[in-house]
Amino acid sequence: MTSRAKEHPRPLRVAVVGVGNVGATFAYALLFSGLAAEIVLIDVNRAKADGEAMDLNHTVPFTYPTKIWAGDYSDCFGATVSVLAAGAPQKPGETRLDLIKKNAAIWREIVPKVVKHNPEGILLIATNPVDVLTYAAWKLSGLPPGRVIGSGTILDTSRFRYLLSQHFGVDARSMHAYIIGEHGDSEVPVWSSANIAGMRLADFCKAQGRPYDQQAMEEIFVQTRDAAYRIIERKGATYYAVAAGLMRITQAVLRDQSTVLSISSLIADYYGMTDVCFSLPTVIDRRGVDKVLRLELSAQEVEKLRHSAEVLKATLNQLEL
Ligand SMILES: NC(=O)c1ccc[n+]([C@@H]2O[C@H](COP(=O)([O-])OP(=O)(O)OC[C@H]3O[C@@H](n4cnc5c(N)ncnc54)[C@H](O)[C@@H]3O)[C@@H](O)[C@H]2O)c1
Repeated sequence: MTSRAKEHPRPLRVAVVGVGNVGATFAYALLFSGLAAEIVLIDVNRAKADGEAMDLNHTVPFTYPTKIWAGDYSDCFGATVSVLAAGAPQKPGETRLDLIKKNAAIWREIVPKVVKHNPEGILLIATNPVDVLTYAAWKLSGLPPGRVIGSGTILDTSRFRYLLSQHFGVDARSMHAYIIGEHGDSEVPVWSSANIAGMRLADFCKAQGRPYDQQAMEEIFVQTRDAAYRIIERKGATYYAVAAGLMRITQAVLRDQSTVLSISSLIADYYGMTDVCFSLPTVIDRRGVDKVLRLELSAQEVEKLRHSAEVLKATLNQLEL
């Protein structure tokens, strides 16, 4: 090896395991960002991974020089982030728990393989139920909890901010509000700190001379919570917004941005809740989770969050991890 080759730093690699709708859309978004020098695609369906790699490579002349290939687990070596979006499809008549058990079995197979070849990287989980599989990935990987991140409510928070921004007539980026807890039916809207320019929503309305419409707020939350059902009824799957969320998390890691994002990670004693993964606003940097922010919640929000944590624990107990 020449001395130049020895000195040459390794190019930034991102691995994607499971290149279905979510994994492939994430890889596409990543390619357009120009952030990764190498993107490796891994799927049990090798032909699918090959096809996606070919299609993405034909995008390179319009985007950034990037090495993209269909690989195997040994190619996770050196990846800064490995996105896990592999999952079994739900079959007719199958219960939610059947599907969870199937995805947990996939996890038992793939997580140790990724970590064997990449003990230093960050795992970013997308597959549902994302909070349960984030916890499972932490247990199965043996990695420090800060290096196992679930996309959690990054998607729900984005849906919430979008819908609220439409109601209040401001840019979604100027609309600050979080969904916390489970990515799913028990998720919790944090009304107590929702704001525009630091003004609580009721104060914003007062300043604008308009009434604060509590009923409309409730409806926005229901639309947020149930958005996946409504999209799946129409197009069979959801993937653009979650891929954008995965991209935002990956960017925060690769560029060491210390960005606050609502993501799922191991919770240690928050209002007495512990040993479960769910979402809270979290500072994400090159090491993964820097800090989970301990939001001050109203008593009612704490109660709802406790319920969310219990729902998740009940599922975890059925998996015997
Ligand atoms: N976290 C979120 O916010 C969010 C949003 C949307 C979808 N999802 C979830 O993401 C997951 C993927 O959704 P999708 O629409 O891309 O599904 P999909 O069926 O299109 O893709 C899943 C891929 O995983 C692959 N796969 C299955 N078993 C594997 C294994 N053992 N090893 C490697 N690859 C394997 C399949 O071949 C397929 O290509 C689902 O669990 C879905 O519920 C999560």
